[in-house]
Amino acid sequence: MENRILIDLNDRANWLYESTSPPTAGGYIVEENRVILMPEGEHRLFAFTDAVMHHAPDMLPFTHEHRSGFETFFIDGGSMEFYSQGKVATLTKGDLVHIQPFVTHGMLFNEDTRYRGIFQDWKVIDSFPELFRLKEYDPDASSKMAAQGVSASQYDFYIHDASNSVRVRPEEIDAVRNPSRPLAEFALEGVTMRMVVGRWETNGVREIWQAEMKEGFHAEWNDFPVNPELFYITEGEVEFTVYGRKYIAREDCLVKIPKFAPRSMTALTDAKMYDLGGLTMWYLLLLDYSSLDAAKRSDKEAVGRLKAQYGCGIKSAGPA
Ligand SMILES: [Fe+2]
Repeated sequence: MENRILIDLNDRANWLYESTSPPTAGGYIVEENRVILMPEGEHRLFAFTDAVMHHAPDMLPFTHEHRSGFETFFIDGGSMEFYSQGKVATLTKGDLVHIQPFVTHGMLFNEDTRYRGIFQDWKVIDSFPELFRLKEYDPDASSKMAAQGVSASQYDFYIHDASNSVRVRPEEIDAVRNPSRPLAEFALEGVTMRMVVGRWETNGVREIWQAEMKEGFHAEWNDFPVNPELFYITEGEVEFTVYGRKYIAREDCLVKIPKFAPRSMTALTDAKMYDLGGLTMWYLLLLDYSSLDAAKRSDKEAVGRLKAQYGCGIKSAGPA
């Protein structure tokens, strides 16, 4: 389990901590959650959870806010009603939500829905190992804790009634994103980059992009890149070489690359993936790069300076 590079979300061996939500009054289990990656570093990045959410006819949308921390969830199958800031919309596969502190959010699931999350400065997940251990000792612990008013997230979870929300289209809710409506888009040779979360929406810590690659697109990093990476593949096949070993990532796979690890990648088919580490300042880099004329773009030193300025460890990239 240590030093996992290729992480297939459907492989139970990759589920660190499994939990289910306490049953509703009608006895429905809404959430089956799996912690795939625990957070790391100053801003508690690189955490990843995967959940199967179920329809519960007696469920109310527990619309709530957190007063610290950021949650970004991908809807990768099924459909849900998403409540936020007085509005409600139906979200389906391909939509994602980026929830900032004080933004109210709640969900009802229409059917079995894949709901995958990444986090920043979000401390609730820190309790998951201890909660898992407690439940191994006492399988009824979560119901008992709820009955006694003890909740792992209670200190930063404020519930509101959202039943008067106005029904809108997904794009009318601020938190809802879809790469088909990118915040910015840059078409490069062999790859189109689409921003779905901006750095100004994460306290400057990171940004989230989808890369749509053409078959044969290849990227080489510097010998010892200082940033770790977390990629989430949603379509196609991408071959990564990390520490000299090859890994083929497909839909439902994460690729987690430690800092300093020598790495490269090649799209074996047309492919789509998200950069979830998001430390590279892609927006400013691509904005500045796209303003260069052809002569300046072929000036390797000038482009290299731009990449260094914005924390990009990729040495060369392009089509087959
Ligand atoms: Fe939340």
